[in-house]
Formats: sequence, structure tokens, C-alpha cells
Amino acid sequence: MSMRTVVFAELAPVEAYTLLATLVVPRPIALVSSLGADGVANLAPFSFFMLGGANPPSLVISPTLSSKGIEKDTLRNIRETGEYVINLVHREIAVGMNEASAPLPPEESEWERAGLTPIPSAQVRPARVEESSVQFECRLFQIVEHGQGPNAARYIIGEVLVAHVAENVVPPVARLGGKGYLDLADGSTFELGRPNA
Ligand SMILES: Cc1cc2nc3c(=O)[nH]c(=O)nc-3n(C[C@H](O)[C@H](O)[C@H](O)COP(=O)(O)O)c2cc1C
Repeated sequence: MSMRTVVFAELAPVEAYTLLATLVVPRPIALVSSLGADGVANLAPFSFFMLGGANPPSLVISPTLSSKGIEKDTLRNIRETGEYVINLVHREIAVGMNEASAPLPPEESEWERAGLTPIPSAQVRPARVEESSVQFECRLFQIVEHGQGPNAARYIIGEVLVAHVAENVVPPVARLGGKGYLDLADGSTFELGRPNA
């Protein structure tokens, strides 16, 4: 096999991001609902998302620092309040999920823009997404800060308190590289361009 060898020390953060996000696929998508300390409801998707363990049941997301090295609202909200909901995403709500990724200022909520419906959670204050067929209510365990500056990782390890699971769970969509997505319901792929503010 003919191989290309990439030395990460020679890459800019944006190049490292593009390479890693293109190679490590498919990734599940966590649509995260959180609340600011001031009560503003936030909704944002994260595909740096994995199952941590089952005892205690845990999930990990990484809202990285932005390309300008700034903390995202989700990270700040979870650090300040310790609570959030991870909603899984299927094809029907993929466009709304993508709209929720618009870089809105902290005082503006993404719920309306996404066209999704907040409903009360059982054990945490942030709402869950009614249209999502799997919703995990989570409590913060630990935030691991790895690096500083553009795209530095911020691992949010959370304990799952409650799962709400639809009788007929719809298979989720997964993130591929660039604009690409994979629909696990039928194996088809589709593209969504990122929205502007
Ligand atoms: C499908 C998808 C997956 C994403 N995954 C991540 C991710 O894993 N980490 C991250 O920092 N941003 C990710 N983003 C970008 C964030 O959603 C975006 O920066 C958002 O504005 C953050 O919102 P917040 O500032 O309200 O937390 C993703 C966007 C999309 C559309």
C-alpha cells in the first residue's frame, strides 16, 4: 500500500482538524441541550462524542475551543450548571440539528432556529428535544482540558441519570468528513452546509 505520512507538528490546527475529522468516521452526533447560569437555553450538536463506560453509565463529548480559541456556550453552561441533555439525531431532525450549530451569541437561543420542541426533563433542568427518539439526561463528572488555543479539546465526561427511549427508535445519522452525513436507517449519504449566524 502506498502511504502518505503526516507529521502533526507541521500542521496548523485547522489542517489537523480537517484531516482527523475526515479520517475518523462515521461519528455519532450528540445534540446537547444546556442552560446558561442566566437561564438562557442553548442547543448545539457535537460529533466528538463517544460512549465512555457503563458502570457508572457515562458519555463523553468534546466542545473544543473555537477556531479563535474561545470557549463555546455549551462548555461554559455545563461547567456552570453541571447538567445537560444529550439528544440523538435521526434524518428527520438533521436539518434542525444543523441549524442549531449556527454561531449565535450566548444570549440568543438556538431552539427556535432549529424548529425543535423543548420538553421538561425528569432529573435535570435543561429541556430535552421532543422530536429526538433517544434522550440522555446527564450530570457533569469532570472536564478534562487538553491544550490551549484554536480547537483545543475539552472533554466533558458525564454520568447518564435517565434515558428516554422511543418505542420505535429511529436509527441515527452520523457525521462524515466535510459536509457529509450517513443515514443509518438506509445507508444513504447526504450533505448539509453549515449555517451562518
Ligand atoms: C454535525 C455537527 C457536529 C459538530 N461537532 C462538534 C464537536 O464535536 N465539537 C465542537 O466543538 N463543535 C462541533 N460542531 C460545531 C458546534 O455545533 C458549533 O460550534 C456551535 O455553534 C457550538 O454552539 P454553542 O456555542 O452554543 O455551544 C459541530 C457542528 C455540527 C453541525
